[in-house]
Amino acid sequence: MESIIHVKHPVAKNLLTKLRDINTDSYMFRKYLEEIAQILLFEALKNEETYLKEIEIWIGKGKFPALKEENFVFIPILRAGLPMLNGVLDVINNAQTGFLALKRNEETLESILYYDRVPPLEGKTAVILDPMVATGGSLDYALSVVKNKNPERIFSLNVIGAPEGLRRIAEKHPDVKVYIAGIDEKLNDKGYIIPGLGDAGDRAFNTQ
Ligand code: PRP
Ligand code: URA
Repeated sequence: MESIIHVKHPVAKNLLTKLRDINTDSYMFRKYLEEIAQILLFEALKNEETYLKEIEIWIGKGKFPALKEENFVFIPILRAGLPMLNGVLDVINNAQTGFLALKRNEETLESILYYDRVPPLEGKTAVILDPMVATGGSLDYALSVVKNKNPERIFSLNVIGAPEGLRRIAEKHPDVKVYIAGIDEKLNDKGYIIPGLGDAGDRAFNTQ
């Protein structure tokens, strides 16, 4: 699974443990998702090219390295991807954002698309944000929608995945780099990641 990059930064591990803790409340759960999303983004962009941007500084004009922020399109998968969006926009402030709402049918485990408000992606770097890759059905669906819009490249930032779901994504979308902070043991018979986080959307938005 070469396209799956397990980000093992100790700060990410520490945040992941806080996320797993059942005593973490919704507010802090969202905060930790924001912070892990930033670590994943830093890893994804560690070799990113910069260009020299002319700016005015205190001694006159000068050229300094910058990212083409507008070339990034962050795409959170509603609901649980939303807190991750806050984190990445805090560091790449002028990126574009597109929204995809997907909901997994908890009986069939098939994902249904409710809303696609992703802008045109030609020439852009699409960055999908979703904490959980369980069966991989939601990410697979999101990738098919995003690929139809012809971005230049796609990354996916995810917090925890099950081997089953990650294998599915690696096999079907080997061109997509997936940056993930935790690879857990397995799925249970209801399609939940074990040990995982429980229902990430419910925990983030206090709807258990
Ligand atoms: C969760 C999660 C992923 C999906 C993962 O969303 O945020 O999108 O499940 O499961 P899969 O890999 O088996 O598709 P959910 O459908 O529960 O929606 P929510 O974020 O609104 O709670
Ligand atoms: N969705 C979640 O929020 N958690 C899981 O473990 C699986 C799917």
